[in-house]
Amino acid sequence: MFTKILICSDGSDHARMATNHAAEIAKQFGSELIIVSVYNPTDVPPPFIGVPGASLATATDMGSYVRELQQSVERDTGQVLEAAGLTYTCRRELGHPVDRIITVAEAENVDLIVMGCRGLSQWKSYLLGSVSDGVLHHAHCPVLIVR
Ligand SMILES: Nc1ncnc2c1ncn2[C@@H]1O[C@H](COP(=O)(O)OP(=O)(O)OP(=O)(O)O)[C@@H](O)[C@H]1O
Ligand SMILES: [Mg+2]
Repeated sequence: MFTKILICSDGSDHARMATNHAAEIAKQFGSELIIVSVYNPTDVPPPFIGVPGASLATATDMGSYVRELQQSVERDTGQVLEAAGLTYTCRRELGHPVDRIITVAEAENVDLIVMGCRGLSQWKSYLLGSVSDGVLHHAHCPVLIVR
């Protein structure tokens, strides 16, 4: 049980909290850990629409922007696991987050998906964000949604 856990991270505080729970489970069960971060190409990247103070405004092209973004998500999420003495691998994906997370979960044959109840969105009127809601609907395995 819980031999392989997929941690979904968008770099949000919610995802970080979820990662803490994944770390605790992994310590108990000796689970293998995979972090997945998905970049959705339909999102408009702040540096390319001239938003002042956009954190990655130094990126010179779309490819390096996406790479920096996903590296920073992996660093942030990985720190939580490293602090707990755990090792992990990372998967960077492009596409719709729900679709990519479900595809990776099946391809990697994970037996638990861990994620936050909300993410980076400012719109907090619903309990679940669309990514956690979509993954919960389509996953082939148990899903832990942390709130
Ligand atoms: N692009 C992503 N890559 C990997 N995991 C993600 C991604 N987006 C969200 N998640 C995971 O899903 C959780 C819930 O985020 P979600 O995007 O559903 O909520 P939201 O951003 O508040 O709302 P919405 O995106 O629907 O406007 C996050 O805490 C994270 O674990
Ligand atoms: Mg979101």
